[in-house]
Amino acid sequence: MLKGTYPLDRFQGLQTPFYYYDTQLLQLTLDAIRDEVKDRPQWQVHYAVKANHNPVLLKQIVAAGLGADCVSGGEVKAALEAGFPPQSIVYAGVGKADWEILLALDAGIGRFNVESSAELQVIASLAASKGLVAPVSLRVNPDIGAHTLAGITTGLAENKFGIYHGMVEEVAREALALSSVRFCGLHFHIGSQILEMPDFAALCNRINDLTDRLERAGIPIADVNVGGGLGIEYGHPNHLPMANFKAYFSTYKRLLPASRPVHFELGRSIVAPCGTLITRVLYVKEGLARRFAIVDAGMNDLIRPALYHASHRIENLSSNGPELPYDVVGPCCESSDVFGKDILLEECHRGDFIAIRSAGAYGESMASQYNCRPLAPAVFSE
Ligand code: LLP
Repeated sequence: MLKGTYPLDRFQGLQTPFYYYDTQLLQLTLDAIRDEVKDRPQWQVHYAVKANHNPVLLKQIVAAGLGADCVSGGEVKAALEAGFPPQSIVYAGVGKADWEILLALDAGIGRFNVESSAELQVIASLAASKGLVAPVSLRVNPDIGAHTLAGITTGLAENKFGIYHGMVEEVAREALALSSVRFCGLHFHIGSQILEMPDFAALCNRINDLTDRLERAGIPIADVNVGGGLGIEYGHPNHLPMANFKAYFSTYKRLLPASRPVHFELGRSIVAPCGTLITRVLYVKEGLARRFAIVDAGMNDLIRPALYHASHRIENLSSNGPELPYDVVGPCCESSDVFGKDILLEECHRGDFIAIRSAGAYGESMASQYNCRPLAPAVFSE
């Protein structure tokens, strides 16, 4: 959203901080995804609920026909409550507790993405105890390093996620031998906030090598799930308000065989751009060499800058004064409660509305009540 298009009159009556969601932009994004995959009826795009489980957004995403990708029993529940058809739900996670597996079995979800042989055995015995057959895929650790923040890469060999690719054949044989599971295919994910398409191309090559090898060994691979990870341009939300879905999906169209169904699990690229954390300037403090804009949102509302040194574009929506450099900091009792250092903002005054952009993914969903701060509510465009 461009600076002039935020409804500041409406904001005047609201307590800050809050998350503001541009549901029109979300719709344009969902439409763009649909357009990119409409020539592949066997492909299914799932929305990674971890990125944002706000029920209003979930309902809009269900209505667009996406499935859900969940990583906990709570997310499976949230997806079901929002109306995702159980069959469209895939469930990954290295530490699924028994109650979570049972909940997913009872709901009849579409797929368990299994991350270890030990987990496979537990799913098989819980399914057997209910007289059910659990549909499973094996999550493979593809051992591919993606170009992204160190804290959010997941595909390297020494990583808690997935089964090492050299050991997949053995676990697949185990799955095929279990009568209470139906072995369906393989699941991958190499990391998040990936902007370089060659990373996804490397994943495709790994998938093709592995599926060929397994099929030659007599293990049929009905479908593959390539995970998520498509990044967005945090620095330029106004020029590039949408992720590059064309480049992303065309990489997979080019490199994976058209005959095999493919599942995608996109989170950030769907919801990040449509969300803005709206906060107000409480105080402007002149330091020795720095000038601080102290705002009423903190790291408990949006932890990405403190946790990953992630940078979000920050704008002053209220001022047209000259630009000055500010350290934009929150009120939490932590030195890492900083949204950005040396950020050029139009001169700040107490009460100005500050927009922290591209905060729709991993913002509200990772918020906490640290320092007994209330959770920031969500406000939607009309
Ligand atoms: N599938 C799997 C198996 C995942 O682990 C993830 C994200 C996704 C899909 C969705 O990835 P996306 O399309 O959103 O990149 N909190 C971090 C990001 C953590 C991502 C965890 N896994 C952040 O704020 O950057």
